[in-house]
Amino acid sequence: MSDQTRFMLSDSDLPKFWYNINADSPVPPTPVLHPGTMEPVTPDFLSVLFPMDLILQEISTERYIEIPEEVREIYRLYRPTPLLRARRLEKALDTSAHIYYKYEGASPVGSHKLNTAVAQAYYNKKAGTKALTTETGAGQWGSALALACNFFDLALEVYMVKVSYNQKPYRRIMMETYGAQVYASPTDRTNYGRALLAENSDNPGSLGIAISEAVEAAATSNGAKKYSLGSVLGHVLLHQTVIGEESLKQMDLAGEYPDVVISCVGGGSNFSGIAFPFLRENLKNGRRTRLLAVEPTAAPSLTKGVYTFDYGDTARMAPIVKMHTLGHDFVPASIHAGGLRYHGMAPTLCALYDAGLIEAISVPQKTTFEAAIQFARAEGIIPAPESAHGIRAAINEALDAKAKGEKRVILFNLSGHGNFDMAAYEAYLSGQLEDYEYPAEAVKASLEKLPQVTLS
Ligand SMILES: Cc1ncc(COP(=O)(O)O)c(C=O)c1O
Repeated sequence: MSDQTRFMLSDSDLPKFWYNINADSPVPPTPVLHPGTMEPVTPDFLSVLFPMDLILQEISTERYIEIPEEVREIYRLYRPTPLLRARRLEKALDTSAHIYYKYEGASPVGSHKLNTAVAQAYYNKKAGTKALTTETGAGQWGSALALACNFFDLALEVYMVKVSYNQKPYRRIMMETYGAQVYASPTDRTNYGRALLAENSDNPGSLGIAISEAVEAAATSNGAKKYSLGSVLGHVLLHQTVIGEESLKQMDLAGEYPDVVISCVGGGSNFSGIAFPFLRENLKNGRRTRLLAVEPTAAPSLTKGVYTFDYGDTARMAPIVKMHTLGHDFVPASIHAGGLRYHGMAPTLCALYDAGLIEAISVPQKTTFEAAIQFARAEGIIPAPESAHGIRAAINEALDAKAKGEKRVILFNLSGHGNFDMAAYEAYLSGQLEDYEYPAEAVKASLEKLPQVTLS
């Protein structure tokens, strides 16, 4: 029996198309609403924030969308990414399961986020945009967009959640190395930031607040700046499907097909990226792969949130979408070290979850870090804390297969490495992390502030 561990594609296997789930999804898309009028948005409203090519991708029903050559040229720096069989982890678990992982941490910035950052920077450049604004939490997304903007000669303003700005200087320095301007959010650069600072000058910030500032900075720039988001939106999910398309070919090289595909979910982009091409095979070619999204118990939007219309940001400036939400004023517990802090989830993914085509679980943080360390000691790569949620679920599946004496083929997406996340690992290793479950009463209280939407 072969003991092949790495399943590598050649440069010529680099995908030429992104896969658009809207072409095959049995559930119709839900409308995107204007945050003021609560009526469906027009492309004109969205064009204040996004270039038209990305807006058209958002509503496209074309099955395959060609990846521009300028984007593929940059993808060639790191794609196709490797797919590995975690033989040493299998051995450590003494499991009958076969565990594979797709390694998106191989990108120059260390995560899958570059797949959409490059595409978004390209379409903005093509539309004549000179500068972008964005938010970032721990800095993975900000550093991806900083590199992409550098490649396409665009200026970039990053609103970085203040606690991360102070606690994680290396990601900030990485963004600055690529040429971005980084500000600790809330800032005094926006009306919203100034109002928050007037109430509390020590406001630690949140992802929802940073999104509001980045949206405001673009919307009030008289067209000088556009806004870019690293997850949640349909076009972001679309750009990430290169992960699943490559994985299908690599599983073929391995001579196996996954029984279950797993990944972590924050806004839903890396999970959708690996899962949607496998969902296509389920929907069109009779495959029956389970697709499992994994979130933290500290921010459990899919498993504990309500499926309803909510604002995309805290200041209620971003469009209203139908999603599983914890409420737009959600602030994660400060003890939570694992990322994945967004209050909502990609609407496309939510609709598929609601239709029962996707499964979801939430996992507590201590057992998540335990899995991350078990993986690091067996396979060598220290995973991003976000990705570790997927690893926890993959190990649980492997142990379940062992208990049942089954051979189960498990594929998970290792969305990034954790080399800049040593503070979180230190907190775990020194026993400072506690499990935290977002309280049901808090969800209930937040949901009282939902927009009152009546669709005609
Ligand atoms: C390494 C990594 N994985 C996963 C995520 C979650 O985002 P998404 O659900 O959009 O993939 C993030 C988000 O910051 C990340 O940095």
